[in-house]
Amino acid sequence: MNQLMGQFGHPDSDAVPALECRNVGRTFMIKKGMFAEKQPLKAVQEVSLQVNRGEVLAIVGESGCGKTTLAKMLLGLLEPTTGEILLDGVPINSVSIKDIARKVQPVFQDPYSSLNPRKTIEQIISLPLKVHEIGSKESRRARVEEYMRLVGLPKRLVHSYPNQLSGGQRQRVAIARALIMEPKIVVCDEPTSALDVSVQAHILNLLQDLRKELNLTYAFISHDLAVVEHLADWVAVMYLGRLIEFGKAIDIFNNPKHPYTRALLDSVLTPDASLGLPEITLGRGLPNPLSPPSGCYFHPRCPDAKEQCSAEQPALIENEDRLIECHLYK
Ligand SMILES: Nc1ncnc2c1ncn2[C@@H]1O[C@H](COP(=O)(O)OP(=O)(O)O)[C@@H](O)[C@H]1O
Ligand SMILES: [Mg+2]
Repeated sequence: MNQLMGQFGHPDSDAVPALECRNVGRTFMIKKGMFAEKQPLKAVQEVSLQVNRGEVLAIVGESGCGKTTLAKMLLGLLEPTTGEILLDGVPINSVSIKDIARKVQPVFQDPYSSLNPRKTIEQIISLPLKVHEIGSKESRRARVEEYMRLVGLPKRLVHSYPNQLSGGQRQRVAIARALIMEPKIVVCDEPTSALDVSVQAHILNLLQDLRKELNLTYAFISHDLAVVEHLADWVAVMYLGRLIEFGKAIDIFNNPKHPYTRALLDSVLTPDASLGLPEITLGRGLPNPLSPPSGCYFHPRCPDAKEQCSAEQPALIENEDRLIECHLYK
């Protein structure tokens, strides 16, 4: 499978991917009740992905499909139970968490809870520099101002507190804090989903401009395909912890193949995409990850399911311009 991925996420065979997952999985042991046995919950299973320098890999799927778990592993905040993650070809588990933080930085979903309410904007943005003992107090202050300018925050907010800022401004603070370490990779976990629709576009445009200006690589996570359409070079679709379709964004958007990806795109086309997946298209909700369906995990909701789909789990295979895990494709 890794060889397969090689042809897709990695058109230039000599280049080492900026970020790579090889067969990455994470299982949580869950105890339901005091006397209950622990049960394994496979939050992420057998995910292989890669993204080259300067590219945007979008990871999409409904809430609960393992996106944040994967994001935390990419950031070195959570250890995979299987497989490995490589940064510039170097396994992440051979690098200290401090060194990982110099290469990969996060922008999380909720700018309300991810910023310390008792710190000023200057203190928040400069904290990574302080932790890593970079520069003097004066040089750190100058750098904070430079990054505030870069993300479009007025200088006058430097001594303000997060609760004095709008949602969009807070997310700009989070972006400045991530970029001040000059990382090569930014993991954005639903960076606009807590924001008003009108503000979302501004933040997406900012992220796109910064990517070009700083030659950043993004792993951009969203439950909403519409959000990633203008940003993504590659799209990975996850379902219940598994990678089920992967290809160039243009191919996935023009010709979604997996019935789940098609349903996700249909939900984008409905007038109120913020409501998520429409019931009419997908029927029943996401299955319980503690007891996933037999065969293909998507078969109970799939409009095209055949007998084989409930009996056999499909393998991730190469199909023309992409990778797909579905019995409809050979
Ligand atoms: N720390 C944890 N302990 C136990 N289960 C977890 C933990 N983190 C996530 N999960 C479970 O793993 C699955 C994937 O969660 P998550 O990665 O947050 O998905 P997403 O970000 O796509 O909504 C969910 O079923 C969730 O309940
Ligand atoms: Mg999440």
